[in-house]
Amino acid sequence: MLTPGLFSISPSILVPLTPLPCDLYINSLAHQGEQKFIKRYREGQSLSKEDIQKASEQYHYFYLEESKRIDFFSLFLSETTCNPYQVAMALKHHAVEDLSKKFSDLKSQQFLSSKQFEDLKQTASLFVQFVENKKIQDLHKILASIKAFDFYTFDHSLNVAQYNISFLSQYQKETEKEKKAKHEDLVLIGLAGLLHDVGKSQLSGELINFPGKLSPEQRQEIETHPLTGAKMLIQKSTEYFGLSMVEFKNLCRAVLEHHENVNGTGYPKKLQGEEIHLWAKITAISDFFDALTTPRSYHTPSDVKTALAIMERSRDIKIEGTLFDFFKTMALSTADKNTLFSTPKELPYDFDPCKPHQELPFMKAIPKTLKNLKK
Ligand SMILES: [Fe+2]
Ligand SMILES: [Fe+2]
Repeated sequence: MLTPGLFSISPSILVPLTPLPCDLYINSLAHQGEQKFIKRYREGQSLSKEDIQKASEQYHYFYLEESKRIDFFSLFLSETTCNPYQVAMALKHHAVEDLSKKFSDLKSQQFLSSKQFEDLKQTASLFVQFVENKKIQDLHKILASIKAFDFYTFDHSLNVAQYNISFLSQYQKETEKEKKAKHEDLVLIGLAGLLHDVGKSQLSGELINFPGKLSPEQRQEIETHPLTGAKMLIQKSTEYFGLSMVEFKNLCRAVLEHHENVNGTGYPKKLQGEEIHLWAKITAISDFFDALTTPRSYHTPSDVKTALAIMERSRDIKIEGTLFDFFKTMALSTADKNTLFSTPKELPYDFDPCKPHQELPFMKAIPKTLKNLKK
């Protein structure tokens, strides 16, 4: 029986003694380079630890229907006995496949359909299930340890989504004095992370993955992505994808304004300070942090303390100081919080965290007073 629209999972992420939320298939012809999918386990069936161990030795992958993917991962997140690294890896595998498919579909259609939007929103809500109540420092340890996928934009967008959720979950509790952060906001700021670079789906692969220095024309082309991304959401969205007008606006503004700098030197609108939406400012911080700390095939990552010291130099220039202070507290361990640190390394205010860099374009630090004069 050949079944199209299947999604692969590693047998090692199955939860023992829990009824399967869907049928599982195997590819019985994998060794011949052909595909013939056969149902191996039925929905509702429970597998023992030994069954799973045996299956892991016998099969590389199990397959499940695309439409059952979210049910499967939801159960996996609530019941799993796997450690956070295995969970993050499984989630990433799921999300990278999903995002790469969406980005390639978007090349020809130029706007996000309701179905694509809903799927991505569900992925963001799986992230909320995994990330909520995790601090940036713990999340970073997990994200930095898992294998990076090659396509910079997907890998990076998944990390930004998770840092966004972690930040807002703590920030809402702190600033709004609520016991629990608002769930829908967390899903949407996660979605903003997934979609912040969606405008790049309209650019050529060579341009968005080019790790060297861009020509002024190439740079201009790259800088269209926040506006293109927002337009892709706004077009055809008379119903706001089922969100309230305020929620939809928050999401669009996070996408549109994530490259605005608080001192007014960013793009596309050169907004300053309070003119920039809170979610865009949070996304900009997550974006910056991920670009510096995540291992890439392009450049060596900075450790957390050095990354924060580098970001500190962009405080109130590129990123907002008070939000960054909050981020810093969440990203540092108790021991590190008492250590003062500084670095002579500095990045230009037009440093683009959304693009791969062969080497990070460090320059000699300029005293802050001079920088303010240069505005
Ligand atoms: Fe980015
Ligand atoms: Fe971007």
